[in-house]
Amino acid sequence: MDGNGRWAVERGLPRVEGHRAGADAVHRTVKACRELGLSHLTLYAFSEQNWRRPEAEVQALMQLLLEYVRRERAEILDNDIRLNAIGQIDRLPAFVRGPLRELMERSAGNRGMVLTLALSYGGREELVAATRRLAERVARGELAPDDIDEAALEGHLDTHDLPDPDLLIRTSGEERISNFLLWQLAYTELHFTPVAWPEFDRTHLLEALDRFGARERRFGLTSAQLGAPDSLASEKSRC
Ligand code: IPE
Ligand code: MG
Repeated sequence: MDGNGRWAVERGLPRVEGHRAGADAVHRTVKACRELGLSHLTLYAFSEQNWRRPEAEVQALMQLLLEYVRRERAEILDNDIRLNAIGQIDRLPAFVRGPLRELMERSAGNRGMVLTLALSYGGREELVAATRRLAERVARGELAPDDIDEAALEGHLDTHDLPDPDLLIRTSGEERISNFLLWQLAYTELHFTPVAWPEFDRTHLLEALDRFGARERRFGLTSAQLGAPDSLASEKSRC
């Protein structure tokens, strides 16, 4: 979700107003994804690197996060949404962490859609942490180095209970990954739009989904192989 700050500055508003408008875009997008029947939505709300922004902006973002959790509570619970979080949640201030954890626990049994907030998240940091956990298990003699395969690494990522994303959307014209889900994006389709996040609405989402639907995902195979019923690609596309 990119472009909140620039959207505000272009309108002569303080950056925080862009983040406020961005929270409305989150509300619209979650609602649209739920109505469209998507199983998972992961939002990159605050990166590990965002802590280095001016303190007042970080404070405002934390306050907005608290407001979001409070305001969306009913929407999440009434619509069978499970709230999940990835990243270093322990780094969040207690006044946000408490209500966030409470809503995550309260919605844990919901099955309609998994809404994951990436908070204090960085893909490199996640990979380093997973590697450390694996090394600790090897040191304790629970795991042999030969047991470390893709599944073992994936099992130690924050996303261990989530499927790899099918589609990544980045708004505001920037065409970068910026430390988001580095491992998980290996075969993800990328969609970049010039629209700033506060302006992002259902029409933009449908356009991204339409384009996604028209793409051929080959997972390293050839086009001809994709028709074969037992190919890896058909395995993956069923997931
Ligand atoms: C995205 O908007 C929101 C967060 C990172 C929290 P930005 O704040 O990055 O907006 P720009 O890139 O400065 O316009
Ligand atoms: Mg930005």
